[in-house]
Amino acid sequence: MQVVIMGLGYIGLPTAALIAGKGFSVHGVDINMNIVDTINQGRIHIIEPDLEGLVHYSVKQGLLVASPEPKAADVFIIAVPTPFKENQKPDLSYFESATKMVLPHLTAGSLYIIESTSPVGTTEKMAGLIFAQRPELKDKLFIAYCPERVLPGNVIYELQHNDRVIGGINTTSTEAASAFYSKFVKGNLHATNARTAEMCKLVENAYRDVNIAFANELSMISDKAGIDVNELIELASKHPRVKILNPGPGVGGHCIAVDPWFIISDFEKEAKMIRQARETNNHKKDWVLMKIEEAARELETSLKRKPVIACMGLTYKADIDDIRESPSMDIFNALKKKNYAVLAVEPHIQNGSAIKFTPPGEAAQAADLLVYLVAHKSFRKIIAPAGKKVLDFCGALR
Ligand SMILES: NC(=O)c1ccc[n+]([C@@H]2O[C@H](COP(=O)([O-])OP(=O)(O)OC[C@H]3O[C@@H](n4cnc5c(N)ncnc54)[C@H](O)[C@@H]3O)[C@@H](O)[C@H]2O)c1
Repeated sequence: MQVVIMGLGYIGLPTAALIAGKGFSVHGVDINMNIVDTINQGRIHIIEPDLEGLVHYSVKQGLLVASPEPKAADVFIIAVPTPFKENQKPDLSYFESATKMVLPHLTAGSLYIIESTSPVGTTEKMAGLIFAQRPELKDKLFIAYCPERVLPGNVIYELQHNDRVIGGINTTSTEAASAFYSKFVKGNLHATNARTAEMCKLVENAYRDVNIAFANELSMISDKAGIDVNELIELASKHPRVKILNPGPGVGGHCIAVDPWFIISDFEKEAKMIRQARETNNHKKDWVLMKIEEAARELETSLKRKPVIACMGLTYKADIDDIRESPSMDIFNALKKKNYAVLAVEPHIQNGSAIKFTPPGEAAQAADLLVYLVAHKSFRKIIAPAGKKVLDFCGALR
């Protein structure tokens, strides 16, 4: 079976390598020639455990070839990005361009699958685009949506073991897509229609966003009430039906901080709580900044100089190296812009980028104010010398 995968990023490349390793002939397509060249050398351009070996093996066996152009195949998978525009409306131009690229290669019986996160109705929209250009293929193609829900850092395992939701534009499409995924997915395959599958992916991330917003709201209420929010959450979660998430400096990453907007932009009047969660999580970043400045002003009075502030953690969550949409990074940048003396502490990113990182132990000695923004496990070993002011916004020291 020949498979074309459009987009060789965090989702497309592991999928390509995994199914090539199972014996499929995979033609991976990316518009970025550096990515294409790197993969054809059996190497990878992203950080993901176990991926490089798999890519190396598949390329050497001739089962995975990267290219800037698609070709004829039985299955076409779309795994291109879904960013949003300035106004938080989804930008579907990547889908349109990838779909136009595969159009000439579709034949009767081809299976076209979107895996990228999509606003509700995108799969039907792409079907419309395909049939407008290739009307002779009407009712002869299988078109489905099958969202990805993998956790970066554990992608190769989760690609095989997670349950998948599969929604076609009709029943035969759902069946054809399910038959394809059953060849390499060990998790359960749940059949539905395209619109439900699209909404399902968005709802999963909106659910996380709403629950994090609840914890973040509690942290601000508790601060005003003079209560330790971590203790409060631990105690409330002793109730058999209550499980509250941990607060932090906001929500980052390219999924939870982005996908809820795809619901809000299409269902503006109805998605009140989802919008509020987005706003609460964005506001939490400003609140944290305000608290840091408050502490810095007090220190300035007693020290009679501007205090040195160490921002402990800059990634969007603990124990990873990804800074996309990271609220901690925004807080660090805002402090720098306001001319505070700030140390960037991020043990998961190598020095060499535009930011100079200070090792955690060194920062603990040098700073007057230690601000914990990400609960990296390694931070638990850092003991701040006596007399340092410490603000923990993410439960890093618990
Ligand atoms: N990364 C994750 O953890 C994750 C998890 C679930 C869902 N998703 C979703 O999966 C989709 C892909 O995400 P990603 O993280 O892999 O993105 P990514 O940016 O890592 O990779 C996308 C790739 O597509 C390429 N591309 C763009 N236009 C193209 C075109 N017309 N033809 C071929 N290639 C093209 C880009 O050059 C890039 O290499 C997004 O919709 C994302 O929301 C991502």
